[in-house]
Amino acid sequence: MGINIAIDGPAGAGKSTIAKKVAKELSFIYVDTGAMYRAMALYLLEKGINGDEKISEACHGADISIRYENGEQQVILNGKNVTSFLRKEEVGNMASVSSANPEVRAHLLKLQRNLAVENNVVMDGRDIGTTILPNAEVKIFLTASARTRANRRYLELTEKGEACDLEAILKDIIDRDERDMNRAVSPLKQAEDAVLVDSSEMGIDEVVDKILFVYREKVNR
Ligand code: DC
Repeated sequence: MGINIAIDGPAGAGKSTIAKKVAKELSFIYVDTGAMYRAMALYLLEKGINGDEKISEACHGADISIRYENGEQQVILNGKNVTSFLRKEEVGNMASVSSANPEVRAHLLKLQRNLAVENNVVMDGRDIGTTILPNAEVKIFLTASARTRANRRYLELTEKGEACDLEAILKDIIDRDERDMNRAVSPLKQAEDAVLVDSSEMGIDEVVDKILFVYREKVNR
């Protein structure tokens, strides 16, 4: 059994940036579960499928696995590396819808648990501390205000030269939070034994240090 660090929180709280740094610092592998849900969404979009019943049936046709290239997680969907297609807004929005489907969640649960059994992992997502790894040694609930998260996303997109609208991004974030927190299966929720970290007023390294501190206290090394 590996040592498990679970980091959950809403979209745009900085989970992946921070989880990656924590993993590097501890020589753990970083597992981005959102990318798995995005790969499933890509599969469903490519097949032109929506509607819950159809998703339940179709999701079993998506064989999703991960591998690492130069320490970076690559997502393989039915034999094809789809990593570079996963960050599009369209895919993220579909992932938010299709991840509410219980069959989709059950399909990905095994893959996520197996990775945590075989490796020391920092795994980020929405239900890692509550459902996937309830016995994780360290659980962090990382959040930030919706406005802060929208500003960060806006900066990220503008830096890439993509045209975007701050208010539209904010609305997207609020809608996505709403869906992620209110779905029936594994909603986004702080685990009872998770440490709450609000990154609205914190820099990246400050958050990383805080998590490493919690880890050292709990795991005692
Ligand atoms: O973290 P992200 O934006 O890449 O996640 C994409 C979507 O997948 C998001 O709307 C919520 C969903 N998700 C989930 O339901 N459970 C997870 N463990 C990770 C992501």
